[in-house]
Amino acid sequence: MTDTQRFAGYGVLVTGGARGIGAAVARRLAGEGAGVLLADADGPEAERTARRLRAEGLTAGATACDVGDRAAVEAAVAHALDTFGRLDVLVNCAAHCSPDTPLFEDEPDDAWDLDLDITLTGAYRCCRAALPHLAASGRGAVVTIGSVNGLQDFGNHAYSAAKAGLGSLTRTLAGHAAARGVRVNLVLPGTVRTSAWQGREDRLAAVEGLYPLGRIGEPEDIAAAVAFLASRDAAWITGTSLTVDGGLTAVNTGFLSAIERAGG
Ligand SMILES: NC(=O)c1ccc[n+]([C@@H]2O[C@H](COP(=O)([O-])OP(=O)(O)OC[C@H]3O[C@@H](n4cnc5c(N)ncnc54)[C@H](O)[C@@H]3O)[C@@H](O)[C@H]2O)c1
Repeated sequence: MTDTQRFAGYGVLVTGGARGIGAAVARRLAGEGAGVLLADADGPEAERTARRLRAEGLTAGATACDVGDRAAVEAAVAHALDTFGRLDVLVNCAAHCSPDTPLFEDEPDDAWDLDLDITLTGAYRCCRAALPHLAASGRGAVVTIGSVNGLQDFGNHAYSAAKAGLGSLTRTLAGHAAARGVRVNLVLPGTVRTSAWQGREDRLAAVEGLYPLGRIGEPEDIAAAVAFLASRDAAWITGTSLTVDGGLTAVNTGFLSAIERAGG
């Protein structure tokens, strides 16, 4: 619980809320007064996370939901409405990232399709199901988690294409939903320490030095940006992308150090 209660009386749905950035977003919004439903393909872990939040005195529930399944998404939205009586904020956090094959031309169709279906179409499915209820709320907001992969080549090309697509979805939905009182924004994280890096922690140490602010991100760094965009503090912000990446994409660290090494 925090002193700031920007979300008192809000009903919030967070996809991919069982762990990582989604769980940090849930904790942040619930800590500021929201009732939060964690919708995750891993139902038991979502329930464990919700239980931990409730043990902290916060309002949280959980539901098993694969954003690849239209009926499951619609059921999760209905579950949030049943639980809180309203839906004010949708946070799209669920995503899928397939490893790149060594050769681009060997990429299997199903890996490309899965990344697009979960990361881009999954967010679309959630927006479509939630929109009428967000419009009814009078203070509705969508915040989607994109990635710096949607801006530059950091590998994982199918995932990156899906993340870039979220920029377009954010802008076109913002245009459609503005007249219905719903704001739609995107957060673009750089590298964040979550379970997505489990078993590859050496990669985190390897890239840390590329970050101008001297560290990789923590889930709470992203949750703070999501809370801002979801709140009335951002009442005149829609259709935008907020990069939260410790300066990674603003500062070309590799170029600057090469110039310095060459004598400036
Ligand atoms: N961690 C990073 O470095 C990083 C960087 C940029 C963007 N992101 C983005 O942040 C978001 C969260 O990533 P994270 O690092 O917290 O990952 P994570 O692996 O820690 O958590 C992701 C959660 O999403 C759930 N999920 C996966 N597929 C799902 C589906 N089909 N339906 C519903 N839930 C599903 C998982 O069960 C898991 O609980 C993702 O959109 C990811 O692309 C992460």
